Amino acid sequence: MFDAERVASFEGLETPFYYYDLSLLRETLQACKNAADPAQFHVHFALKANFNSRVLALIQAYGFGADCVSGGEVQKAVETGFDKKQIVFAGVGKSDVEINYALDQDIFAFNVESIQELEVINELATIKGKTAAVAIRINPNVDAHTHQYITTGLDENKFGINSWDLPQVSETLKNCKNLKFLGIHFHIGSQITDMNVFKSLCVKVNEMQDWFEERGMPVKVLNVGGGLGVDYYHPDENAIADFESYFKIFKDFLNIKPYQEVHFELGRALVAQCSSLISKVLYVKHGIKKNFVIIDAGMTELMRPALYQAYHQIENISRLQLITDNSQLTTRYDVVGPICESSDCFGKEVLLPETKRGDLIALRTAGAYGEVMSSAYNLRPAIRHAYSE
Ligand code: LLP
Repeated sequence: MFDAERVASFEGLETPFYYYDLSLLRETLQACKNAADPAQFHVHFALKANFNSRVLALIQAYGFGADCVSGGEVQKAVETGFDKKQIVFAGVGKSDVEINYALDQDIFAFNVESIQELEVINELATIKGKTAAVAIRINPNVDAHTHQYITTGLDENKFGINSWDLPQVSETLKNCKNLKFLGIHFHIGSQITDMNVFKSLCVKVNEMQDWFEERGMPVKVLNVGGGLGVDYYHPDENAIADFESYFKIFKDFLNIKPYQEVHFELGRALVAQCSSLISKVLYVKHGIKKNFVIIDAGMTELMRPALYQAYHQIENISRLQLITDNSQLTTRYDVVGPICESSDCFGKEVLLPETKRGDLIALRTAGAYGEVMSSAYNLRPAIRHAYSE
C-alpha cells in the first residue's frame, strides 16, 4: 500500500524504476519459513523470477536454497553466497559449458530433462572424475489450469521426461557410473491458484516414486517444483501468499518416507508482491472513443502484459486521496508505454482519477518476472531501482 510519505520519497528520482519494499519481502520469507520449517520442507528460490542482488542477498540470508536454470544463474547463486549444497540446476537445454561449470561448483543436483542429457552429464563428469547427483524431471501430464505459456506439465510440453520413457531412464542410470540417482523432480506450471492442481500432482509423485522404489532405486528427494500463484487483483489485501495451505497439501497428500527430503522451487510467491514498477505520465491523449495515458515505462521494463495478457493493478499514486474513494475514479484510460508496438499496453479501459502529465503510476505485483524479463529494445536505458528497508 502506498502512502503519501512513500510517494514523497520518490520525489526527484528518475523514472521508470522498480521499487522494492524489502520489509514486505522479509515478512513474506518469514511466512514461508514458518509454514515450511515444521515439516522440514526445503525451499529453493527460483532465481529466474528475480535476480536483483539485494533481493537475492536477503533470500540467501533467510537460508533458502537456489533453483537455477542457466550457468549464469548458478554463478549468481554461488556469488551471492548460497550454500552450494542447496543449489539445483534445471532446464531443458543445458550447454556443456554450463554443465561443466556446475560440476566444478559441486552443486547439490542436476534436474535432468532428457535421456540424452543424462548421458552427456555422465560423460562430462567422467572426464572430471566426479559423480553428478541427478534428479529426473518427470512430465506428470497434470494440467495446471494456468496461462498456456506458463503451463509445463502436459504431454505436449517440451519439459521433462515422459513416464513411458522411464524404463530407458533406469537402464541409462545403471550404465552411467558417474551419475548418482537422487530423486524425482516435477514442475507443472506457474501462477497456479487452484490448490486442487497440487493435490493431483501429489498423486502423480506418489505413483512415480513407487515406480522407482519397486525397481530397487530409492528416491531420496521428492522435488515438487514451484508454481504457487499470487493475487494480482488485491496486492494489498493479499500481500503474502497462503503458504500454510500450500504446504499442508503436500504434508497431507504426499507419501513421505522417513529417509526422504521434500524440495520446493518457489519463485513468484516469494517476490511478486514486494515490488512495483513506478513510472511517470508523459502525456494524456483524449481521443473520440478512448483516452490514453502514455507512461515512460513500457513492455521493455515489464513484459508480462504484452506477452501473456497478464493483469497488473495500475494506480495513480500521485492522487492517493482520490484512489481510496471509488467515486473519484472518474475516467477510463488505456495505459500504454512508449515502445513502438501495439502490444505495449498495460491495461485497457482502466478506471483512474483524472490523470495529468507528471503523475506517478504504480504497476503493482511486479517483483516476479518483471525486472528479469526486461530488454533494451528501442535502446532503452538500463533498469533503475529504489528500495525501502
Ligand atoms: N521450477 C521450474 C522448473 C520452473 O520452470 C519454474 C518457473 C519455477 C520452478 C518457479 O515457478 P514459480 O514458483 O515462479 O511459479 N515468465 C512467466 C513465468 C514463467 C515460469 C517459468 N518457470 C510469468 O511472468 O508469468
